[in-house]
Formats: sequence, C-alpha cells, structure tokens
Amino acid sequence: MDLNAIGLGDKVRLTLGSDMWHTAAVESAGIEQVALSDGPHGLRKAAPDDFFSSEPATCFPTASALACSWDPGLAMAIGVALGEEARAQDVAVVLGPGINVKRHPLCGRNFEYFSEDPHLAGRLAAAMVEGIQSQHVGACVKHFAANNQETDRMRVSADVDERTLREIYLPAFETAVTRARPWTVMCAYNKLNGVYAAQHRWLLTELLRREWGFDGMVVSDWGAVHDRVAALEAGLDLEMPPNFGISDTAVLAAIEKGELSEKVLEAAVANVIRLVERARGRQPGTLDADGHHALARRAAAASMVLLKNSGPVLPLVDGPGLKVAVTGEFATEPRFQGGGSSRVNATEVDIPLDELRTALPSARFVDDPAEADVIVAFVGLEEGQDTEGKDRDTMDLPAGQVAELRRLAGTGRPVVAVVCAGSVVSTAAWDDAASAIVMCGLAGQGSGGALAEVLTGAANPSGKLAETIPLRLEDCPAYLNFPGEEGHVRYGEGVFVGYRGYDAVGTQVAYPFGHGLSYTTFSYDDLQVSGREISCTVTNTGDREGAEVVQLYVGDPHARVARPPRELKGFSKVSLAPGASRRVTFTLTDRDLSYWSVAFGGWLLEPGEFRIEIGASSRDIRLATTIHIEGEPPRLPLTLMSTLSEWLDDPVGRERLRAVTGNDYEFLNEFLGSSPISVLPAFSMLGITPDMLKALL
Ligand code: BGC
Repeated sequence: MDLNAIGLGDKVRLTLGSDMWHTAAVESAGIEQVALSDGPHGLRKAAPDDFFSSEPATCFPTASALACSWDPGLAMAIGVALGEEARAQDVAVVLGPGINVKRHPLCGRNFEYFSEDPHLAGRLAAAMVEGIQSQHVGACVKHFAANNQETDRMRVSADVDERTLREIYLPAFETAVTRARPWTVMCAYNKLNGVYAAQHRWLLTELLRREWGFDGMVVSDWGAVHDRVAALEAGLDLEMPPNFGISDTAVLAAIEKGELSEKVLEAAVANVIRLVERARGRQPGTLDADGHHALARRAAAASMVLLKNSGPVLPLVDGPGLKVAVTGEFATEPRFQGGGSSRVNATEVDIPLDELRTALPSARFVDDPAEADVIVAFVGLEEGQDTEGKDRDTMDLPAGQVAELRRLAGTGRPVVAVVCAGSVVSTAAWDDAASAIVMCGLAGQGSGGALAEVLTGAANPSGKLAETIPLRLEDCPAYLNFPGEEGHVRYGEGVFVGYRGYDAVGTQVAYPFGHGLSYTTFSYDDLQVSGREISCTVTNTGDREGAEVVQLYVGDPHARVARPPRELKGFSKVSLAPGASRRVTFTLTDRDLSYWSVAFGGWLLEPGEFRIEIGASSRDIRLATTIHIEGEPPRLPLTLMSTLSEWLDDPVGRERLRAVTGNDYEFLNEFLGSSPISVLPAFSMLGITPDMLKALL
C-alpha cells in the first residue's frame, strides 16, 4: 500500500487501538479495523469497552496443564480449535500463547505459561501458533520478555544477564517466531535491564526483527506503553488500548518538532497494515461446541500427571462391591481455569463427581469416609490464588485441606489426592497421607470427565511434569531473588532455573521435572549414537496400552563456563500397545550443544565430551553415553587486557611473547598468571617494557 495516500493524522491513529479490542480503520485508504481477543487457552471475545464479560467459548486446559501432555500435536489441535472459534466470532488475532519461562513457583500467572524449560515451551508454543494460523487467524506470542512475576509487573526491572536471556528466557520466543512465524508479538509490561519492554530497541528491533527475522506486528500489552514516541523508535507498532488519544498528540508533536522521524512512524504503520492485509480472506465459521468440548476433555486427560500410585490404588475398577467416598468442594464446583484476562466464559463444564458416578455405574458412593474402600479427595488452590495481577504468597495447600487429608488418612482407607492448581503446590506436608496423587492442574472445561477417565483407567495417564515440585520453597533457585525490591528483580540464579538449578546443587525434590507415572510400564534399550543422531528403543512392558514421553538431555561437564548438568534438547511422546516397541530418534544440532558466550558474543560449541542421557524424567535417566565433538578449542583474541595465563595458554600467544620479550614468563604463571599483561611493565625487574607490549599486538 502507498503510505503517501494516508495523511499524517491517520498514520498516527493507525498505531493506536480504536477501542479496547480493535485497531483503527482508515476508510478513505481502504483500511478496515481488526479485532484482537484473549487468549491464551480459550477465546475471550469481550464487548468493545468491557473487560469482564465475554461470549461463550471453549475453555481448553491452561498452558501449565497442557504442557504436561508434552504433545505438540495436541497443542496444534487446540490451536486449530482456537482459530476456528476466532473465525466464528469474527476475531482476527488470538492473544496467545503465553510462553514466559517459569522462574519461580509463586508467579500468579504461571498457569498461563508452559514450563520451566525453554525447549518444551518453545515447541508447544510453535505448534499452537501453527494451529491458530492454519485457520487464517493470527497468533500473538506474549509477554516479550522476562515477564516472570506479577508483583510490581508494570514497573519492575527484570535484571538479567545476556547469557541467561539467550539460554533461558528468549529461546521459546525464538522458536515460536522462527518456526511458526506468528503474525504478532506482545511486549511485556516490565522493564528489561532498566528499559521498558515496550521501549526496548534491542529487544523489539535488533533481536526480534533483525536476528530472528520477525515480519509481523508488535503490539503492547494493555497499558504497557509509557512513552509512545520512545516505543515507536524502539520498534513497537501498535499501542493498546487507546488512552483518550493522549499519545497520538505526543507523537504528532514529536514529528512536528523533528524529534521523531515520520519514517519511523511509517515503519510501524506498514506493520499494522500488513496485519490488516493478512487478516483479509478469513472465512467465517461456526462454533463446534460439542466437538471442541470433546477435544478439551481429550487434552485434559492427556495432560494429567499421576505423581504416585502406591498399592497400586489406581485405577478404580467398577463393580457392585466398590465403595467410593468423594470429598472436597472442587468435586462439585470444579476449578478449571485461572483469573484475569484469560478467563473464558466456558460453553459447558464437566462436574467431576457426576462424571465419576457415570464412569463407575455399579459402584456405591458413600458419604462416611470410614465405610469406603477408597477416598478420592479433591484439594487445590482457592480461587484467586492462580490469577493475573498477583503473585501467590505460599506454595502450600490451605492448612484446612492438609488437615483434612491427614484426617482422611487416619481412617486407614487409601486416599487418592486430586490436586487442582495452575502451578506448583507443595506436597511435602501431606504426601505420606495420600496413596495416590493425581495432578489435575487447571485443565479446562472438560477436566471433570477427563479426571473420571484417568481415575478409572479409561484413559491411561501419560502426563509428565513441566515444572519441578520442590520439597521446600526455599530450595527454589530463584528464592532469594523473588520478587525483588525497590523496583528491581535480579535474576541472580542465572541459567540455573528449575531442574537446571536443582540438579546443579543436587537438591532433593518432591517430584522432578519430567516425572509422571502410567498404569503400564516402559523399558528403554539399545541406545545408539551415529554422528549427531541418538536413538533408542522404548517398549511397553505392561499389560495395557499407554504413552511414554522419552526425554533427551545433554550435559557439557568440561565447559569453560558453569553449565547445568542436564538440559532438555529433545522429547517424543510415543503410544504403544502392550508388548509393542518403537525406535525413537533425535538429531542434535550445534545449537543444542552450545552455550551463549558473553566473551565471544555468540553461541559457542566447544569441542570435547558431552553427556547424552535418555530419561523417563530428569531424575530417572534410563540410558546414557557420551559423544565427542572434534575441533580446535575456541580462542579469544588476545589483547593487552588478556591475562598472562591466557597468553601462555594460546600457543601463538606464547610464541609471540617469547619472540618479543625473549622469555615466555612461564615461571610467573602461578603468581601473576591472573594479571592482565598490560600491568606487567609496572614490575620493572621483569624487563617487560611498554614498547614490547605494543610490539606484542
Ligand atoms: C494481559 C495480556 C492480555 C491483555 C488484554 C493484559 O492485562 O497481560 O496478557 O492479553 O491484558 O486482555
């Protein structure tokens, strides 16, 4: 489109929303408005100026639950369904998925995010984006970047070093952007290293557009822009929602005064118009409420995690002799989603107790806990604990629920604890009171039916934890640096987030990352390495069909920098009939083995030995081997600020030192090895002169 056909005022208007949920139209130029709606696990199409009520839509499992499926195919299917619902409601962009890496168990919005691991989060996010966009509807990955807490979320500066950003907090965005090409990216509320994400040029332009090749539109989080002129300069395209036009006036004034180039504004306008053009041609649709409810239920069943199963007490087998007691308010008033902008007006909601009665038609449901053969106890976080805008203040279950679990265990009947929560809850205080624990999560409107299927074995549990359950909150690597103070939160644990940190110091955990049981068992054999290809055979050794998530971890114990003992670099969910086997193959890239080197300013693959592990969880490694990467060790360019040791470690450097000074000064290495070579002339007795230093270079 010829931007000259659009007047300055209209260009400015195009880069600000026209109401809470629409971009502006410029009819004279044939530019129609585009509708954006939340996201991320169901459509929340609100009235134009209403934040709180919305049209009925399917509530799928929240990201924290769905991530436990470790199933990109499922994430894609949900993406397709979200796209279809968007078409049915005339929405052009779904504001999701949310893909921030979980840094700390208490972040109030953890339920909207996938995982503590960037590889898992990135693959699920890319699949969901592909699914949404297959329907000619745009996705919006959010919140870019380092939005890992709700406390002070609109002001706090996340202070994160570059290696940690590159290895932990950015890769999920990078994967989603480079593989799935989302139409939009939403910037975060917070500052990153002192600069608002909405005004962060390195983030929005140098990294997102130049390095990753993003060609879509950057939209602000709602209310995240503090200075729209600075935001436009940084690479933000659309401010949402409108602010009585105040920022339009500021942009016009800046252009008139020559403080902002019209070219900068036009770049943003072009990105908004590209979105308008992409959104054209979307076919209207109808809401397949029943079909999507069935998908929500299937997804919930695939996402539930069986943490323990002593006895085994599960699955429950129907029969006239079976007496079941069900306790806890969530059995009849299910918790299946969190609070805030993601809250969906669900089309229908399965009631767990009703579903359990249907799934166990011959069993007798008793009220007296002492009379039952088994007690199914629903526990979890209260409404308002998993919510946008507020972090949780404890990782524990409410004290009353813990006391109730203990009382139930006192009856001597096996207790099956069903945990409904959108993020980690501690199990340490009551684990021994439960024979079985099912992590139900906030698994959407079909979670009641899915739970009945899982408890009775109609669905064999196949979920695996996407975040570690620590024994104590204090064990969490980010514990001492959360949620920060005086406007700053320091990501002091660096790359040691989640299992990377627990494993690095050998902390005992309640349930590790990647853990989840099945009603069948799997064996792992025949690990083979061929170049960068790693393969093994997985066999269903039990007597019922089931699915296993095979996890590939990589470790680099001899790196120049401290690296986590293991990092997830591949996974595959395989469904197997009893007795069946499948060969699973992974291919490692250079990047999978590299770390971000600040000294080298890029990804660095060091030659040497790497540890390869195949596990059923991060703490249940079934097969392990090493691979050797050939090559010359990387060499930093030598400067006068390089230390004597660094000069001596480099064969060319050592030779040069000897040639220029007549000595290699090996004898000084122990005492002065850590000194930059520039300070050595200060010790005149060494005979190194400033001229020699110049000659060295
Ligand atoms: C949230 C976003 C959401 C937006 C629009 C903000 O408060 O942070 O995730 O998309 O509101 O509802």
